[in-house]
Amino acid sequence: MIKGVIFDLDGVIVHTDEMHYQAWKRIAERIGAEFNREINNRLRGVSRMESLDIILENTSSFSDLDKQRLADEKNAIYRRLLGSLTKNDVGGDVLEALRELRERRVKLAIGSSSKNAGFILKQIELTEYFDAISDGNNITRSKPDPEVFSKAAEYLGLAACECAVVEDAYAGIDAACAGGFYSIGIGDAAGYDRADMRISRITEVLKIV
Ligand code: BG6
Ligand code: MG
Repeated sequence: MIKGVIFDLDGVIVHTDEMHYQAWKRIAERIGAEFNREINNRLRGVSRMESLDIILENTSSFSDLDKQRLADEKNAIYRRLLGSLTKNDVGGDVLEALRELRERRVKLAIGSSSKNAGFILKQIELTEYFDAISDGNNITRSKPDPEVFSKAAEYLGLAACECAVVEDAYAGIDAACAGGFYSIGIGDAAGYDRADMRISRITEVLKIV
């Protein structure tokens, strides 16, 4: 029985995935690295530094210091974009799903690789909807490792088998499966056959509780 739902943040609760794309595009253009939507999809769920390594795959090597600078620069651009985010950027179906899940006494958590998760939730005024937040600040291994979801379940006081994970990233679905969670793919991950359930609207999550 599902007693908790763990939501990925970027690309599931709010479309900050587009802002990640815009910020990385600026960096890639400046250093002459190839970047497009397909490469961007590989960055979903992946940590900031690992994302940079993917973007730099076919470029000449950069020192660790240069890489740190590029990652910091990307984050500064991204944070400026996040500054314009408001609660109006949250879709009505997201609010409907969260409200109804709370109404049904289902515990809710965020399971995000992002170190900006707290800031984003504040911008979109959704912090109080979640009983727990597990993000890039409390993990040592990024998705597809299940750590971020295992911590979220632990914070909720639930076992993995009692929780569903909602993800737009293939890496997130792999993480959910590896951790023993019921995995739900949406957006890009709705095309991933490894997901236990594939949905096009977030309110479809209500079918499992
Ligand atoms: C994930 C995104 O949620 O967070 C990734 O899907 C991103 O694209 C990762 O790289 C880390 O985000 P941040 O905000 O810590 O740079
Ligand atoms: Mg995501």
